[in-house]
Amino acid sequence: MWLLLPILVYSLIYLYVRHIYSYWRRKGFPGETTAFSWRYLKQFYRREFRHVEAICEAYHQGRDRLHGIYCFFRPVLLVRNPELAGNILQQSNGHFSECKWDYVKGYRRFNLLEKLSPMFSSRRLSPMFNNAQHVAQHMMQHLLDREQQGNVELDLQRLLRIYAVNMMGNLVYGLDVNNFEQTDHILNSYVQHPSQYGMLQSFTLRGTPQDSRLSSRLKDLIKQNVELREQSGIMRKDMLQLLVKFRNGNDLASDKWQVDHAFEEDKLMSVKRLAKVAEDLLHSALDSIASTITMTLYEIAQQPLIVEKLQTEIKELNFVDGQLTFEQLEELKYMEMCLKETLRKYPPVPIIERICRKSYTLPGTKFSIGEGKTLMVPLLAIQRDGKYFGEPLKYKPLRFLHDKSQDIGQRRSAFVGFGIGGAQCAAQNFAKMVIKLALVKLLQNYHLELDASATVEVSHLPAPFISSKGGLKVQLKARAILTQSNYLKSSKQI
Ligand code: HEM
Repeated sequence: MWLLLPILVYSLIYLYVRHIYSYWRRKGFPGETTAFSWRYLKQFYRREFRHVEAICEAYHQGRDRLHGIYCFFRPVLLVRNPELAGNILQQSNGHFSECKWDYVKGYRRFNLLEKLSPMFSSRRLSPMFNNAQHVAQHMMQHLLDREQQGNVELDLQRLLRIYAVNMMGNLVYGLDVNNFEQTDHILNSYVQHPSQYGMLQSFTLRGTPQDSRLSSRLKDLIKQNVELREQSGIMRKDMLQLLVKFRNGNDLASDKWQVDHAFEEDKLMSVKRLAKVAEDLLHSALDSIASTITMTLYEIAQQPLIVEKLQTEIKELNFVDGQLTFEQLEELKYMEMCLKETLRKYPPVPIIERICRKSYTLPGTKFSIGEGKTLMVPLLAIQRDGKYFGEPLKYKPLRFLHDKSQDIGQRRSAFVGFGIGGAQCAAQNFAKMVIKLALVKLLQNYHLELDASATVEVSHLPAPFISSKGGLKVQLKARAILTQSNYLKSSKQI
């Protein structure tokens, strides 16, 4: 009898696990046959398991447009085809969870991000560019100070993370914060890379850890600044100003920056919700900005010809009094290609994930995905698939030069760095502005030399980052065309 009991328990567990792992087969989907991988369990035990890499591996094992897999005990549907993924994310309105940006006011429910999208239009970004340049100047001053102390070697990854934090602090929180100097500032908590918070990130996919104490301090910061803008009429050309305008029911698409005040009961958004929006923007932005600049510099530092081309393109810009204008960023065509190539090889959002909340028939197929099941679009795997991009692991910006080759249409639809179908990044213009600005400043003023002795390992957690000890070690040497005196002139404060 005592022998029978464990046998019975083990049999029940076995049948239950088998039931879970036959989900896709029972539903008729093409999918994994053997699901329980001891290798992953071992990696998990050793804290070496990497979610993004495992999903990429599953992508390569599949053959069809849809491929059912299991993330441990969770059945997940991988959409392997970019066009199908685009159609699903475009047409599946209401079928997948996207509640984060749902907003209810009175009897109306709307998508907050859609309403806020004019914030990221060129018309709005152009006047903000002066503030952005001011932030870039903090970084350049920091480098100059180091150089004067004879300190030319640094961790570029950390430098760029501080730049990204400063940028979001300045433009979203409305603070002239300089974390290169102010190491005790509350935003300094974000300078630390999420990898330092542990492996759980590997499962949660996006974002930095949410510390509620930090959130409440950030909320206080927003509250103070909103009051200043609403009550004292202080005006600053930044994202916060636009969020305050939105709260007061003002039109974001107009050119006006001053707030037209609404009565308290008519305001569209509470300060608490506004603080949440600011924090969500901060989380979405930090990893993506810092990683895209870091990985671009890491790749081009290994190809001096690319650096030369970029520096020539920058030199041809017509700087007015050493300053760049927002519109000039458009002229950086080769840099745009480099940016795309970085986002292809290292997408900051490597996987788009959705939970089905209402059973949905996938367009152009006979399959339906059931409520509660997860759908994933593996952007990283698609963009590193040789079917769409030849020699996918090589960094070749010119692949994005418009040519007449027959596969250009296919390649264009497989470039999904900023998202796909209805899941596109709303802030891509903003991201490009901030990234290009940093690249221009650094390449204009410095030669970049990678530390040849250092090993560089790139991981995705989920955004790509250099996981080797010491980050991305480089030597920055001031370029000969800029002596220190005219360097200061060319990067004069605004
Ligand atoms: C190179 C930089 C960036 C890339 C490649 C990128 C890419 C993406 C992608 C692929 C998505 C779709 C994700 C999904 O639907 O699950 C997305 C969404 C989003 N992005 Fe970006 N992004 C970048 C920078 C930024 C920045 C700087 C901001 C903020 C200022 C931002 C704000 C957002 C927001 C608010 C969403 C909506 C989805 C969400 O709630 O996270 N992104 N981005």
